[in-house]
Amino acid sequence: MIEELELLSNPKSRVAEAIKTVRTNLEFSSADAKTQKIMLTSSVPAEGKSFIAACLAESYAASGKKVLIIDCDMRRGRQYEIFGVPNSKGLSNLLISDLNGVKIKTIKTKLEGVYLLPGGTIPPNPSELLESQKMADLVENLEKDYDIILFDCPPVIGLSDAMIVTKYVDTSVIVVAHKVTPSELLKKTVKTLESVNARISGIIYNKVPTSSSGYYDHYYNGYYND
Ligand SMILES: Nc1ncnc2c1ncn2[C@@H]1O[C@H](COP(=O)(O)OP(=O)(O)OP(=O)(O)O)[C@@H](O)[C@H]1O
Ligand SMILES: [Mg+2]
Repeated sequence: MIEELELLSNPKSRVAEAIKTVRTNLEFSSADAKTQKIMLTSSVPAEGKSFIAACLAESYAASGKKVLIIDCDMRRGRQYEIFGVPNSKGLSNLLISDLNGVKIKTIKTKLEGVYLLPGGTIPPNPSELLESQKMADLVENLEKDYDIILFDCPPVIGLSDAMIVTKYVDTSVIVVAHKVTPSELLKKTVKTLESVNARISGIIYNKVPTSSSGYYDHYYNGYYND
């Protein structure tokens, strides 16, 4: 996983270039907000949401922003793996504890300016926890301390988690893996998010093979909206 971190902190990589474009588009999509809250989701598992969230975090931080990633995937979140930190005191643990007057601790990562709240111990009821008043309070509490909060979510199809998270964010980004996501499913994902009035800033088209070699060169992005 260190390999992923190294890649995303290399400013010369193609990923870094593409992510910069995504960031610029997102900046235009909510110029007024003090803290920008962005959700990343996709249709099906393993399209690259978590990787892209970490890339975006690094890119924002490199431009001087203080960034927090909240791993909202309490089922199989792996931000703690990407950043090589413990997962024992994460979102799920906070959401079942008494947060009244408590200063919420996040993890300062190896990337300057990037902080992480990992998913935590896998709970039996992730959707319920995300829907709780405590989650709303936690976001309100955290947004005072960061310029950007990235919400790394599970996929939309078959789970309500990402739909629930839309109510805490300003905008959402859908990650689509090249030749993985059937277009029907992508349409369903967009419809599902629109049914809860989510604002969709764009689609990141990920894992696109290029002629150059190197595993992580497989990246591209595109916008369909906004
Ligand atoms: N652009 C890319 N090029 C090559 N591999 C990638 C790229 N993006 C992601 N991957 C790899 O694909 C795998 C899945 O990525 P990731 O965990 O970010 O997906 P995810 O959508 O968050 O999955 P999940 O649905 O389980 O949360 C990881 O091994 C990651 O390193
Ligand atoms: Mg993920």
